[in-house]
Amino acid sequence: MSAYEQRITVALDYPVYFTEGVLEPANPHLLEAIRRREPERRHRCFFALEQRVAELWPGLPASIAAYVEHHGASLELVAEPFVAPGGEESKNDEAAPARFHTVFEAAGLDRQSAVVVIGGGAFQDLVGYAAATAHRGLRVVRVPTTVLGQNDSGVGVKNGINAFGKKNFLGCFAAPFAVLADARFLETLPHRDRIAGMAEAVKVACIRDARFFDWLCAHAQKLAAFEPAAVKEMIRRCAILHLEHIAGSGDPFELGTARPLDFGHWAAHKLETLTDFRLRHGEAVAIGIALDTRYSSDVGLLAPQAADRVLNLLETIGLPLWDEALDSRDASGRLRVLEGLREFREHLGGELTVTLLEAIGRGREVHELDEVVIARNIERLARRREGSVRYGT
Ligand SMILES: NC(=O)c1ccc[n+]([C@@H]2O[C@H](COP(=O)([O-])OP(=O)(O)OC[C@H]3O[C@@H](n4cnc5c(N)ncnc54)[C@H](O)[C@@H]3O)[C@@H](O)[C@H]2O)c1
Ligand SMILES: [Zn+2]
Repeated sequence: MSAYEQRITVALDYPVYFTEGVLEPANPHLLEAIRRREPERRHRCFFALEQRVAELWPGLPASIAAYVEHHGASLELVAEPFVAPGGEESKNDEAAPARFHTVFEAAGLDRQSAVVVIGGGAFQDLVGYAAATAHRGLRVVRVPTTVLGQNDSGVGVKNGINAFGKKNFLGCFAAPFAVLADARFLETLPHRDRIAGMAEAVKVACIRDARFFDWLCAHAQKLAAFEPAAVKEMIRRCAILHLEHIAGSGDPFELGTARPLDFGHWAAHKLETLTDFRLRHGEAVAIGIALDTRYSSDVGLLAPQAADRVLNLLETIGLPLWDEALDSRDASGRLRVLEGLREFREHLGGELTVTLLEAIGRGREVHELDEVVIARNIERLARRREGSVRYGT
């Protein structure tokens, strides 16, 4: 008896637009995105709006109705826009996906209907997960409304919610049908979220692109001031580096043990749960980058001057390098953040694989971290923290 070797190759493609005013009737991108496979047909659309965004942009439902009516030959609205809470709390709410399943079912959505999701990274993760499991996958058109949603989470292929106190425990890989990053939504984003999302740009520059890193250093003050031209370029370059990685790494669905784009993330995910999500994802990532950069330099992998450049860049942009949760200890005196290493390995299975830095622009995978060295560098970051602010309330 020999085994039959099944092999399936699935090609995935989706456009990512960087635009402004997606719902202005003259802006063709949303229309193009929805009808890109069947330009002749009329397409059934459903809009999911994050509550905070709907409050800040009260004209959205009217703009959606006007856009769909303007393009009535191609688009059809199957229900009123559905407004629901977003933010990290929505990913912690295990009942949230079922609420979306209920409205998808009531609206009679099918696998060729488009669900247009307008909201932050957390809302995209939640609705993406619910949509991926309804009829085994609806077409999701993402309109991310945060920096992090536009430069990282919204352009990738992962969806998920938190469970059992663990980030993204429930989730799936499902490519979006299209992504539209609309710079205008960032106008209402609080300062804290504007800055937090930039941590992912520093991350991807550190491990992938020294020229982008230099560009970030040269524009750090403009980014700290949220100067629109610099922000747009940062978002575009960061998003494209993520897209290139997903398409070119040979492992878009992370079947192996490596998570090269998750530089700084083993500590970050743990810090988010340790602080009960008082820290934003991006803030936790900045601290995680600071820790793993210092570690890389301490073990002789990265030149100390390069490590200083990374820490200075994070600081100039206005990102934190420290939080008291880094120093939190369990009953036996062990640093709690170290538990993040075990959880990081557990999420993927197999051997622990963490990305460190061997140069700016070049990551290096390692399979072991020395807890004594981690603790020493937490102490060093603690000493540097003087004058820094406590993030969150
Ligand atoms: N799927 C992935 O590949 C991936 C990758 C990275 C991060 N993530 C996830 O993304 C999430 C973080 O995303 P985020 O940084 O966008 O945070 P978020 O979605 O929590 O949004 C941050 C805050 O901004 C608000 N908000 C959203 N848009 C707004 C706007 N235009 N104006 C004013 N306020 C607005 C939200 O209500 C929230 O309070 C985390 O859960 C993280 O784990 C997922
Ligand atoms: Zn991240």
